[in-house]
Amino acid sequence: MKTKKLIIGNWKMFPVNAKDAKAKFVAIKKVASTLRNVQTVICPPFVYVSDLKKLVTGHRCVVGAQNSWYENEGAFTGEVSPAMLSSLGVESVIVGHSERRANGETDDVVSKKVAAAIKAGLTVVLCVGERERDQDGDYMKLISNQLKSALQGVQKKDFNKLVIAYEPVWAIGKHAVRAASTDDALEISILIRKTFADMCGKDGSCVPILYGGSVDAKNAWEFLLKSQVDGLLVGRASLDPKVFAEILKAADTTK
Ligand code: PGA
Repeated sequence: MKTKKLIIGNWKMFPVNAKDAKAKFVAIKKVASTLRNVQTVICPPFVYVSDLKKLVTGHRCVVGAQNSWYENEGAFTGEVSPAMLSSLGVESVIVGHSERRANGETDDVVSKKVAAAIKAGLTVVLCVGERERDQDGDYMKLISNQLKSALQGVQKKDFNKLVIAYEPVWAIGKHAVRAASTDDALEISILIRKTFADMCGKDGSCVPILYGGSVDAKNAWEFLLKSQVDGLLVGRASLDPKVFAEILKAADTTK
């Protein structure tokens, strides 16, 4: 387990203007920059990345991206490439978020995106997770297949450029059934480590694992303490600087 907790805020397609985005980032940075034991990454919509990058001071609170394409340039209208992000000084990108998969992003596309982002020098926050749970445990197979498929183009020497976020689809966003239980998340963090062990012959413990899905100020500490995760991927709660500050502070004090 890593000593510093990694807390990533996924702002999705919020907020609606740059002024609000900057104000939220400044408020979050104020708290995040005081916390020794937490690395905070805010992933805003692309259009705000440059503006927010200018507000970064130091390493404790930085800016990431929510997606990138699998070529560095070309006729891909509307896409943003990993080389472009890296030229802005962005260091990490979320790939394979379930909201993108729901819009048609296939395992194949995800795996190309992962390889391209790593090649461009970015750290990839790869999202995996099941739509629903079944009695027979087929969701476990699905998650380990998602992982293996996404990483097929990644060399073992580059595994240190990976973060895996377990996000059960049924626990994400305002239609969430509920947050996963800490046991649900523990089960999958063990599965992810085992899948890495199968792939690379050692325990894969160098790869940080995050939990995401309805994380809030009340449950954040429990996941960090009981689910053997190295951090959290936070959606809605990362858009409220006060609530997000509570999550960051909880992470800072969780050993
Ligand atoms: P949520 O979203 O925290 O709003 O459930 C998490 C995510 O989609 O990354």
